[in-house]
Amino acid sequence: MLKGKTVLLAVSGSIAAYKIAYLASALKKLEADVHVLMTQNATNFINPITFETLTGNKCLVDTFDRNFEFSVEHVSLAKKADVVMIAPASANVIGKIAHGIADDMLTTTVMACRCKKFVSPAMNTNMFENPIVQDNLKTLEHYGYEVISPASGYLACGDTGKGKMPEPELLMEYILREVGCEKDMEGMKVLVTAGPTREPVDPVRYITNHSTGKMGYAIAKICMRRGAQVTLVSGPSAVKPPEFVELVPVTTAKEMFDAVTERAGRQDVIIKAAAVADYRPKYVSGEKMKKKDGGLSLEMERTDDILAYLGEHKRPGQFLCGFAMETENLLENSRRKLEKKNLDMIVANSLRVEGAGFGGDTNVVTIITEKEEIPLEKMTKEETAGKILDQILKMQNH
Ligand SMILES: Cc1cc2nc3c(=O)[nH]c(=O)nc-3n(C[C@H](O)[C@H](O)[C@H](O)COP(=O)(O)O)c2cc1C
Repeated sequence: MLKGKTVLLAVSGSIAAYKIAYLASALKKLEADVHVLMTQNATNFINPITFETLTGNKCLVDTFDRNFEFSVEHVSLAKKADVVMIAPASANVIGKIAHGIADDMLTTTVMACRCKKFVSPAMNTNMFENPIVQDNLKTLEHYGYEVISPASGYLACGDTGKGKMPEPELLMEYILREVGCEKDMEGMKVLVTAGPTREPVDPVRYITNHSTGKMGYAIAKICMRRGAQVTLVSGPSAVKPPEFVELVPVTTAKEMFDAVTERAGRQDVIIKAAAVADYRPKYVSGEKMKKKDGGLSLEMERTDDILAYLGEHKRPGQFLCGFAMETENLLENSRRKLEKKNLDMIVANSLRVEGAGFGGDTNVVTIITEKEEIPLEKMTKEETAGKILDQILKMQNH
């Protein structure tokens, strides 16, 4: 995913430095060319050998070290860099960079970089809240650095408060948002629905389905990485919501209908990946469940058809994609749904194929449009999302 991208990790003197070993390793697994710059003080917290082993590149600490591949290492590295992550950023390093001080390898290289630069402060709460540090962070923002807000929690010094460097997974998301994908959806507004809905039977019980939200969340994530402004309307899901998308949590089909229809008019693309319950228990004279022949019976009523509503109210140029999950006659039934509901695309998902459908990390789908039928191999849900989006963009550009 990051093949051909150069990522600079700039590590300063904080106990959080150890977390960057995970980040360096994860970046390397995505095939990035990772270079770690450390302050001399940072070497008290983690040994450069750790980074050299994980990245396969020399860890740079000393500006005047002559044992380099290039003659002026800080400048050549700065030119190669696609993104810089200064993490953990000590109060000292923040102050130095904000005031143009370049007295070591890290600050000198960062000064020479023209690419996107993230700063992830990590320090004791009192240090973080010190107006001098706050002013320095504002100065960095003024010069185009993006400051990653520290988390609150238990700090290594024993205090509890704001100042904790976020986990490496979050720092990775910032990097991936910046350089993980081509920004071919920049400026587009996309609404994705995901997960199941829950239709209450009584205050304790509900009716739902096996949807986990994985496919819809993967679509939302890839849209975001490709530059779109994403709203994710999600039923109850245990999947971690993607970063940098607006999450609208809902529970019932009615709540999902309201959340989607309220926002639909503003969207360029709507992708309905949620498995909305078609029926909900009907409220009958104070009781939803009735005893019948010794068992329980529920009287059901239809929920609103979100896709049909969106198809009827589609504005010119808006792209509408639905999902179909069938056990039989998958392609014929899906095509019928495409036509009946005025969709531009339907993604047909067989429940009978191994590696497809609910829950797993892979899917096997066929993309159906008015003119085409594109069967996809078994692939991860993120890869499937990428193929669906490629096809949507291809159709929108014609
Ligand atoms: C155990 C320990 C933990 C520290 N943690 C932090 C920290 O999280 N954030 C910070 O700004 N300074 C921290 N410091 C102080 C910095 O290491 C110190 O200000 C140092 O001069 C920073 O140097 P550098 O910015 O060149 O890496 C810590 C010091 C010690 C001894």
